[in-house]
Amino acid sequence: MSGFTPDLELNQNEIVKQVERRYERIVGISFTISLLASIALGVVFWQGGQTQAEGALLFVVLGGLGFGIVAWGKYLVPQGPYVQEREELRSPADEKQAFVESLERGESLLLRRSFLVKLLGGAVGAFGIITLFPFIRSLGPQPKKMLYVTNWKKGSHLVRPDGSKVHVSELEVGGVLTVFPEGHAGGAISQTILIRPAFQDIVTKPGRETWGPQGYLAYSKVCTHAGCPVGLYQELTQQLLCPCHQSLFDVLSGANPVFGPAPRPLPQLPLAVDSKGYLIAQSGYNEPIGPGFWERA
Ligand code: FES
Repeated sequence: MSGFTPDLELNQNEIVKQVERRYERIVGISFTISLLASIALGVVFWQGGQTQAEGALLFVVLGGLGFGIVAWGKYLVPQGPYVQEREELRSPADEKQAFVESLERGESLLLRRSFLVKLLGGAVGAFGIITLFPFIRSLGPQPKKMLYVTNWKKGSHLVRPDGSKVHVSELEVGGVLTVFPEGHAGGAISQTILIRPAFQDIVTKPGRETWGPQGYLAYSKVCTHAGCPVGLYQELTQQLLCPCHQSLFDVLSGANPVFGPAPRPLPQLPLAVDSKGYLIAQSGYNEPIGPGFWERA
């Protein structure tokens, strides 16, 4: 303080205030740009994502935050070191006046800085929320009822890939055929393997007394491990083999898995024979078809 007249000191204080305000504006603008870029990034994620736009916006988000923090630390935080000479203990009038002004300046400074702190919190918070979006999106769409629904329904005729109906006299014992519901030949979700291990009715589990008329059994062809088509029937052991990871399913006990990674049986389609001797479904599958991770219970 010594060595300056009060007027000079006032001018110097005014210059310092203006410089600080300018830097505060710069820091505030940086945080605001970062905040807006985070919001824009969220919108881009929400609408399905676009790699280049995401990269550019992420650059702006992090660049704005980084620039603002560095500018704050460099220009708005007192740098020191400060040395104050100890002179007489009683303060002269001009020093008291300078102290009062400094206090007032500090008060308004604190108020302005608290706004910057809130802005910084907003920018960091928005960025934190945005970083969750890729994880949420990577979970994929909700399966809803889709996993329970195939094109099989009550009365659907079993048809070959060419759309022709399957008659009950079609297969000999040991025969196997890929079938679909009538009108949906070739559908991946509804593909079903039809096997004839015997001529007489087969009961694979309690409650399925009518599901295997005249020795015909039908199981979903979509493997319960990872969804490969289960297409190999070993007549000797009465087992179905999935070629992808060698899961084996016991045909006569409801396609229970007896070997390999498949976690649950292949769903069985309840069969019946119509008045003309064609094979039909009594209903659709009563459980989700496909990989084990679809199972709820
Ligand atoms: S997909 Fe069938 S055993 Fe892996």
